[in-house]
Amino acid sequence: MTRASRITRLSTELANQIAAGEVVERPASVVKELVENALDAGAARIGVSVELGGKRLIRVEDDGEGMTPAEAELALERHATSKISRLDDLAAIMTLGFRGEALPSIASVSHLLLRTRARGESRGTEIRVSGGGTVSTREVGASEGTTFEVTDLFFNVPARRKFLKSDGAETTQVSRLVTQLALGHPTVGFSLTSGRRQLLQCPPASSLEERLFQLYKDRDDLVEVRKQAAGITVTGFVAALAGPGEGPRRGPQNIFVNGRGVKDRTIAHAIVHAYSVATIKERSPEVHLFLEMPPDRVDVNVHPTKAEVRFLEQSLVHEVLRRAIGEALEQGPAPEIGLDPVAPRVGRAEGMALGVGVTSAASAIDQGGWRPVSSTEGGPAVGFSPDGGGQPFRDLVREMRPTAVVPAPVVDRPLQPLGQFRDTFIIAIDDEGIAIIDQHVAHERILFEQVMERLTTGTLESQQLLMPMVIELPAAERQALAAHGEALARLGFDVEAFGGDSLRVSALPAIVDLAACETALRALAQDLDGLDQGAVIDEALRQMAATTACHAAVKANDRLTSEKMAYLLDELRRTAHSSVCPHGRPVVLRLSRKEIERRFERT
Ligand SMILES: Nc1ncnc2c1ncn2[C@@H]1O[C@H](COP(=O)(O)OP(=O)(O)OP(=O)(O)O)[C@@H](O)[C@H]1O
Ligand SMILES: [Mg+2]
Repeated sequence: MTRASRITRLSTELANQIAAGEVVERPASVVKELVENALDAGAARIGVSVELGGKRLIRVEDDGEGMTPAEAELALERHATSKISRLDDLAAIMTLGFRGEALPSIASVSHLLLRTRARGESRGTEIRVSGGGTVSTREVGASEGTTFEVTDLFFNVPARRKFLKSDGAETTQVSRLVTQLALGHPTVGFSLTSGRRQLLQCPPASSLEERLFQLYKDRDDLVEVRKQAAGITVTGFVAALAGPGEGPRRGPQNIFVNGRGVKDRTIAHAIVHAYSVATIKERSPEVHLFLEMPPDRVDVNVHPTKAEVRFLEQSLVHEVLRRAIGEALEQGPAPEIGLDPVAPRVGRAEGMALGVGVTSAASAIDQGGWRPVSSTEGGPAVGFSPDGGGQPFRDLVREMRPTAVVPAPVVDRPLQPLGQFRDTFIIAIDDEGIAIIDQHVAHERILFEQVMERLTTGTLESQQLLMPMVIELPAAERQALAAHGEALARLGFDVEAFGGDSLRVSALPAIVDLAACETALRALAQDLDGLDQGAVIDEALRQMAATTACHAAVKANDRLTSEKMAYLLDELRRTAHSSVCPHGRPVVLRLSRKEIERRFERT
């Protein structure tokens, strides 16, 4: 005797509800699917309205191609789509949808009304579905295009309903999503209302810039990205490196790959990386980025909500994006620099300023960006020239306050060191003028970039200690170090718990002096302790690189040999991204030849 089969086929309704579990998480996911359908239907205008955060009602209207009666009925069936018909089509997908799942999923967990009229048809169709079952189908008068109304979302899935947030929170999600979709499709008009409130109103725009303006108003704190390489086009706008102590603006990160809003680790990492060489100030800068590439180089069929993609050449995408942003940041409006060396402290990575450069300042002079300060200002005159003639040096320097710095490669000509001023600043010259370099900040930047460079390819060189060192740290910091053992190892530290409050250090990065080891580790521990839970290892490494560089750099009041000075200037010249300044603490101040000649009335 055979037993009765334990396996039965799921009913269509149940299968759809299960699929809905993946695709429809909350009102915003319904809005996403419906708006994407409208976009795929070639709509020029899309109107979205929600009530009670979309829990009571979500309505999406479009003026797209619409559906014939037969299409409308099919559209609500599982695995029915007009967008692909063969597997190969997926490799050339240009539409946002392709799974043929969204509508039946939504319909299975709500009351759904579909009203549509195909272009060129005289009559429209209206279909009502409840919990997946068709309630009625009839011919109606309707305007061209399609309207979906989804009421009482999750009325039949109480478990899901319970997980929804407050009306306000759900509205926020919807609004964020519609904003993102509007950004991704500037030529399409969008409106969003919640109850009677109009949350968004964007008529069709002619460019991304115009759409950005509609959504975010005037934004001179964004810089344009535009790069084409290796068959990948990157366009968009990203947060500029802002003024001293501010860092680039934090904000939404909208990323589109072939028009599809995505979340992607490779892209996120490339953004972090691009900013990390320029600033340590901002962990989540505002970016609006558009990547275009041939559809066969990106797999969109990775995730039910289609919010993830897989790149065929991941590292290529990373590299192109990183460079695109890096170049944009160098072009962009750079921070104002001042002479006051009051750099804001950033955690313990104090003075991680990577500086504004020599010719940046020089070009600001050339462009008339300097604002002379009356020479009666300032403290007692400290003569520069031995006879005290001409303008006091100190006053002269006080005038070197550009209002805007136009970045350029910083030290692109060899500078010849003349000596140190107060064992803290290197005075150097070239044919174009005189430069004053903050030796600590300059060295710190050089080291930071060297460390980052090496970290991207592997680990740092480490020095084994003959006598392991034991240091005592508070529990939280000790744990922070222990939790980042792997990152510490990449930096060249070998650190282990040594019972009680102690840690034993048996190796440290070759660049860190034994004398600075303990301070460096304490600073690292505090940095790491302050990092958000779940901060990516990259973030930790970058922070550590900054702190390590800070503690390994020559200090103010260190007497330098002329070889060491020459070395620093040389390395500084080689340093990539030397024109960008993370917190406005300048590396180099420059007195241009022009300025000198003008002051001595030689022109
Ligand atoms: N607003 C609309 N205007 C015109 N046709 C539509 C509209 N919405 C849906 N359709 C039609 O209904 C079909 C089914 O839509 P559905 O969203 O379920 O699947 P899909 O968009 O093809 O794929 P996916 O599940 O990935 O979204 C679509 O392929 C399209 O032909
Ligand atoms: Mg769809």
